[in-house]
Amino acid sequence: MQDIKKQLENLKKEVQNCFDCPLSANRTNTVFSDGCENAPVMFIGEAPGKNEDETGLPFVGRAGQLLRKYLAEIDLTENNFYIANTVKCRPPENRKPTNKEKRACEKYLNKQIELINPKIIVLVGATALESFITEKITITKARGQIFEKEYMGKTRKFIPIFHPSYLLRQHSEEINSPRYLFKQDLLKIKSLI
Ligand code: URA
Repeated sequence: MQDIKKQLENLKKEVQNCFDCPLSANRTNTVFSDGCENAPVMFIGEAPGKNEDETGLPFVGRAGQLLRKYLAEIDLTENNFYIANTVKCRPPENRKPTNKEKRACEKYLNKQIELINPKIIVLVGATALESFITEKITITKARGQIFEKEYMGKTRKFIPIFHPSYLLRQHSEEINSPRYLFKQDLLKIKSLI
């Protein structure tokens, strides 16, 4: 049995050679993950944007930098988190990935979840919430709640949070503002790992 690091490296190579959906046609790079393989917490975002497509790393653009800033404030860094997206290639004009594209890519994300086996899976924004839990609750209602669900052979804990791109348009950190709630949710996640 190969170690987890090796299995992830092989999976990353598989993704680099994947042409299973039309998103592959326009990519500069596939965007597999950032972070460490024995992380207690795994973040799952929507899809790579321009900066991610250019660098091959998730959450490195403006929204990603904001997320990483808030995470660093509570000592969560690439050394103790793992981060990926529902799809590995950038959708044109940063549109939401379609269900078909997400389905074509889910085998890779599922394998990542199985290998990382995190204590908590954080669903970053509405697209990840819809993919893993439900389309019937808004992110505003779902954020900060723990959803326990059988997934990839185990009962797993999922916690949705606001997407940082939403916070880029919401500057206040006053009590009950989106940024305030976002910080509260991150602290809750930290307390659970
Ligand atoms: N937004 C996402 O959801 N994922 C990224 O990797 C970057 C921005």
